[in-house]
Amino acid sequence: MPHAAQYTPRGMSLDSVNHTIRRRELLAAAGIAGLGVLLGSCSADGPESSNAPSGATTRVASSFPPLGDRRDLRLRLWAEPGQASIIAGKQSEVWRFGAEVLEGDPASVVAHQSYLGPTLRFHRGQRVRVRFENRLREPTIVHWHGLVLPQLQDGQPNEAVPGGATYDYDFVVDNEPGTYWYHAHPHGRTGEQVYRGLAGVLIVYGDEPDLPKDERDIPVVLQDRTLGADGQLRYVRQMHDQMAGFVAQTLVADGVAECTIPVARAPFRLRLLNAANARTQLLRWSDRSPMHVVATDGHLLPSLVTVPAAVVTPGQRADVWMDFSRFEPGARVELQSANLFVESPAFAGGGMGGMGGMGANASLNLDWEVAVTFVVQPGAASPGKAPSIAPARPLLTESTAVNRSQPKVFELTMRQASHWINGVQWADRSVAEVETAVAGTVELWEFVNRSPLPHPMHLHGQPIRVVSRTWDDRTLANEWSSIEEGLLEEGLRDTVLVWPGQRVRIVVPFGPHEGYFLYHCHVLEHEDAGMMRSFRVLPAGGGR
Ligand code: C2O
Ligand code: CU
Ligand code: CU
Repeated sequence: MPHAAQYTPRGMSLDSVNHTIRRRELLAAAGIAGLGVLLGSCSADGPESSNAPSGATTRVASSFPPLGDRRDLRLRLWAEPGQASIIAGKQSEVWRFGAEVLEGDPASVVAHQSYLGPTLRFHRGQRVRVRFENRLREPTIVHWHGLVLPQLQDGQPNEAVPGGATYDYDFVVDNEPGTYWYHAHPHGRTGEQVYRGLAGVLIVYGDEPDLPKDERDIPVVLQDRTLGADGQLRYVRQMHDQMAGFVAQTLVADGVAECTIPVARAPFRLRLLNAANARTQLLRWSDRSPMHVVATDGHLLPSLVTVPAAVVTPGQRADVWMDFSRFEPGARVELQSANLFVESPAFAGGGMGGMGGMGANASLNLDWEVAVTFVVQPGAASPGKAPSIAPARPLLTESTAVNRSQPKVFELTMRQASHWINGVQWADRSVAEVETAVAGTVELWEFVNRSPLPHPMHLHGQPIRVVSRTWDDRTLANEWSSIEEGLLEEGLRDTVLVWPGQRVRIVVPFGPHEGYFLYHCHVLEHEDAGMMRSFRVLPAGGGR
């Protein structure tokens, strides 16, 4: 057995219901796998590993039980209040997802030690049925971010169910193997619900190139949180937070501050997910070695991409290959993060009278903080070589678009202290002409950002590709030049950064599912304010 599997119950810090469920899942998984079970990477008050300084928050292990079984899966998934330790020594009230396997491989659900939901592990082609139970006192719904699903399986705000009610999902996983996630998505409450904890990682497995596996394949969820002296989460308190987007004070990874992850002296696949509400992050290694990126938003890149630092917006994922074999045992390798969610001078000064507290941060000075510390463990080094990847899928090109000479334009604006798309906001399933497409066709869209804030725009359904970025207004072009080389746009994405003044052209394939889907800004406060619209996919062949 390559890894020492170990689970440390955290009885004191979990309410009894959660505790019981977690242990039941663990035991079930352990029984099947014949191994102890390893959980998510970080914990605020787990035992210290030998290399961690005292006081740091750390983990004993960071991997998953083997997943083998491809039987259909039936899960129970719920959202409920609970407690978690985000900063060592303090308990916070949170909301979290829990899940259990009713039918299928018990290793499909791996409970997380933090407030994060369990990691869900699906196979491509697998049928998955989920009964979702809302145990909160307000409506919610679960969206499977990045999965290509029929309208009623997508988890849209219109399907939100009240507290005490259930929602049944039944779908076949049709996505490429890769890193996805799931999160709450009720209209107007997504920001607060995700902030309180309603999000988790979803991994699709299938045929993939030779990337590190099992205990060397770990998700890392990057977020931020503001905690009061009482240890409780603080969310939006001023209109400014609501309007700009809520960037919290403390970086949190895998649900804890000062996250430390022990790693063997070998190559790893790190599935980085930016699940922060508003913070677009630039990520780099503390030793300044380049970031080797193998996949973005669940999809392999056409080939390995190497950047000095990687831009990851809220909603986006970047799967990074990192070889820890060249470090000595005990070395501490930091994943560092700089906040790119800047306010332009226009936002700080112009037309927003009476709002104190703005106006500082008007330019982009990169302020690096530690997001995660990887602690290299003792043992012989087993170096690997950078993977070669070559997905068997054609490149999505502009020439296939039905409107290639006339892209559809979506203008992003800010007025009346709110955010707008083509002058309108969320209106359930009413759609404009430009928000209508035909299943199986490809269109060109352009997002034009005429607002002073960056917007990471996300589309539900098939992944898209960025084909060009041009400027309508160069006010923030300087700031852009310092991050441009960190963009990861060689392959497919489901969320794309639209910088103030830019016109971003994307190729959008529609398909196979007709019905209503969503596109929105993934700054959750912008989305909640209405920067979210439906688009309608009509059946191929013209029937309405
Ligand atoms: Cu991750 Cu509609 O969102
Ligand atoms: Cu989504
Ligand atoms: Cu936005």
